[in-house]
Amino acid sequence: MKNYKRYTITSALPYANGPLHVGHIAGAYLPADIFVRYLKLKEKDVVFICGSDENGAAITIQAKKEGRSPQEIVDTYHTINKKAFVDLGIDFDIFHRTSSELHHETASDYFLKLYEKGVFEEKTSKQYYDEEYEQFLADRYIKGECPNCANPDAYGDQCEKCGRSLSPLDLINPLSTLSEKPPVLRETKHWYLPLQQHEKWLREWLETGKIDGVEQHDPAEWKKNVLGQCLSWLNDGLHERSVTRDLSWGVNVPLEGAEGKVLYVWLDAPIGYISATKQWAADNAKDWKLYWQDEESKLLHFIGKDNIVFHCIIFPAILKTHGDYILPANVPANEFMNLEGNKISTSRNYAVWVHEFIDDFPDKIDVLRYMLCANMPETKDSEFTWDDFLAKNNNELVAILGNLVNRVAVLTHKYFDGVLNGESNRVDWGKIDLEFGKDGFASKVENSLEQYRFREALNEVMNVARAANKYLTDEEPWKRIKVNEEETADILMACAQIIANITILIRPFMPFTSEKMIEIMNLDSDILKWSNVGSNSIVKNGHRINKAELLFEKMDETMIEEQKAKLVTDNLEVDAATNTVPEISFDEFQKMDIRIGTIKEAEKVEKADKLLKLKVDLGTEVRTIVSGIAMHFNIDDLPGQQVSVLTNLAPRKIRGVLSQGMILMAEHGDTLDFIVPKNGISDGSKVS
Ligand code: 2FM
Ligand code: ZN
Repeated sequence: MKNYKRYTITSALPYANGPLHVGHIAGAYLPADIFVRYLKLKEKDVVFICGSDENGAAITIQAKKEGRSPQEIVDTYHTINKKAFVDLGIDFDIFHRTSSELHHETASDYFLKLYEKGVFEEKTSKQYYDEEYEQFLADRYIKGECPNCANPDAYGDQCEKCGRSLSPLDLINPLSTLSEKPPVLRETKHWYLPLQQHEKWLREWLETGKIDGVEQHDPAEWKKNVLGQCLSWLNDGLHERSVTRDLSWGVNVPLEGAEGKVLYVWLDAPIGYISATKQWAADNAKDWKLYWQDEESKLLHFIGKDNIVFHCIIFPAILKTHGDYILPANVPANEFMNLEGNKISTSRNYAVWVHEFIDDFPDKIDVLRYMLCANMPETKDSEFTWDDFLAKNNNELVAILGNLVNRVAVLTHKYFDGVLNGESNRVDWGKIDLEFGKDGFASKVENSLEQYRFREALNEVMNVARAANKYLTDEEPWKRIKVNEEETADILMACAQIIANITILIRPFMPFTSEKMIEIMNLDSDILKWSNVGSNSIVKNGHRINKAELLFEKMDETMIEEQKAKLVTDNLEVDAATNTVPEISFDEFQKMDIRIGTIKEAEKVEKADKLLKLKVDLGTEVRTIVSGIAMHFNIDDLPGQQVSVLTNLAPRKIRGVLSQGMILMAEHGDTLDFIVPKNGISDGSKVS
């Protein structure tokens, strides 16, 4: 393995067009943060780079949707996402913005350098133009019928129904989403990167890790899924890519005759890593060039699988063409995380949003980090479920790690007034199923981390806690104290040494927990060095620890019921709105028993702003139904209101209340309304 002097670590720049969800975190941010924290514990020279991706059609489309300016959109979401990262303990050295002047200048200079080298081909082609809005249309601004599945709402770059990637010219009966009118074809000039010229060296670089026979990296260290995707692109043959767009929002093309054109966002976004490093270097008296242009720097990109081609083929081609830059030594991309059996969907609002999680569970940040790491989609898609969140909290964090720290702190106070009187050199270490020293558990965790196997690494850390717990249970200090005080003190000292090890080991994964452990164990932050891992003498004899404090609180079902309910309702509502639900048979429809009822009573559900507990008369019976409509209606207006109720939905406990059905609602934007018969009809009538 090559020995590097420093590390440049990047996480994909999130678009500032919406908030972050747990899938983003598990994909590109948490693994990078864990790796960076590990390197920093090893006292390596590291810079951890990220920022908002603020250019391109993703932003202008969102601006149109929200009726705001692109600037307002990026300002809003940059602020929300920056805060979310801080709250989650994702500790970038800089979280920059591609709307900054420094970035515009850097991207523009970079383009010019390539232009002056004669890298680009200039070509005129016909593209769709909206005559009413007087502008060319980015792919996402054109809708039409998919030639593959006849979906009438396919976009110019992709059909979201069948997944086929498209070009605007493929669409049948295209319409501009701006004027809703058919666009016309007009000639426009753009600059193209002839990627096909890079095929040969890219193949050698990806397959052998060499360029012209000179070793660059070890391909055995790359993930199979990443290499597989890259080679499949290469096998399909690379084609020229246009690196400019007709758009008014982004980095202007710095050429004469290019007015109204900007750099393609996928050209400028990765250059955003460089401009962010420049800003960080300026703020911290560092030399940015060392991190991007010195062979002894290791460049790593953490991303999700949808970004692989840009980071493993296009950006390397751009870096190499420039001539001064190093190439990534690895791109440990992750697959996707699904949610409760479905794909996470931003447009359908089917997600666990990070900022909402932080509001709902401010003291459970590390539980989320733990859970996301334990389920990280490292080699295949994985799954987030609230039940698993609860189980990980109760059965692993509370039962194993929390229990260990708590028992040691409580017993040390009970028997020894908080002082660890045992002596490390008297402890019978052989009784603990752990191998100390550099080759023991320390190297297991380290090996997993070095191979970007974060799930495995976390499990190895928990194995250390499991071994210590078992030792404590087997040795029964609560019985031993009655016969041998010295041995009891030694047992507690052994456990304290292991806890000190875990405090270091767990820090990359759960920094807030590690900090709490430092406090409870009254440890000096100086111990937080990877070189201490594996030692059985971190804690000195006679050390006093602080009073026990719970590391993790047990959770009960009610704490996740509202979260689950939120997902189900949101999903159904939005599915209907976008008409993307799969077809069902008439028989399936007939399984639903929908009845007319009248709300008799309405009351608030404790500690749940959005929920109401309703009593609904269904003609033959009165049911209790919990509904998430509290923010939309005045509670006093509800009694007497007729409603439609899905009566045979399996009953569910929501915030401790058994809900026996679901009130059906019509939704438009933020407005909700009841679905009621126009002329009134008796309660219990069937809707079919
Ligand atoms: O897919 C995305 O969210 C992009 N904004 C990622 C950009 S990564 C990098 F190149 F900046
Ligand atoms: Zn289709």
